[in-house]
Amino acid sequence: MQSSLSSKIIEVNVLGDDRGQLTVVEENKTIPFEMKRVFYIYGTVEGVRRGFHAHYKTRQALICVSGSCSIHLDNTERKEEVQLDSPNKVLILEPNDWHEMYDFSPDCVLLVLASHLYDPDDYIRDYSKFLEVYGA
Ligand code: TYD
Repeated sequence: MQSSLSSKIIEVNVLGDDRGQLTVVEENKTIPFEMKRVFYIYGTVEGVRRGFHAHYKTRQALICVSGSCSIHLDNTERKEEVQLDSPNKVLILEPNDWHEMYDFSPDCVLLVLASHLYDPDDYIRDYSKFLEVYGA
C-alpha cells in the first residue's frame, strides 16, 4: 500500500501452537488509539458494498477475523484498494479516508474497533462534502 494514504495495514503477531492460533491487539500499542466502541459486520449479502463515508475524528481498526473483504480508500488525491484476508492483518483507518467495503466472502466477519462512541454527526456521507472538507 502506498504511504501517501494515512491509513495503513499492519501485520500483527499470531501466537500459534499445537492447539491453534491466537492473535492479540492492545490499545495504544498495536492499535494506536484508545478503543471506545466495537462493532462487527457479518452475514453480508453477496455483491453488497457498504461504508461510503469518512469521519471527522473517529479512527478505526478493521480486522477480518473470518473470511475476507476488500476496502476502497480515497483521500481525495489517491484511491487505493486493500484486501483484508487474514486475521493477522489490521487496517488502521484514519478519519480522513473515504472508505467503501466490498467483495465480502460469505464467511466474512469484519471486526471494527473505533476510537469514539457512535455519533452520526461524526460521519461525512456526502462525497462532495468530503471533497470540501478534506480536498486540497
Ligand atoms: P451504517 O453506518 O449504515 O454502516 P456502514 O456505513 O458501515 O455500511 O450502519 C448501519 C446502521 O447501524 C445505521 O442505522 C447506524 C447504526 N450504527 C449504530 O447505531 N452504531 C454504530 O456504532 C454503527 C457503526 C452503526
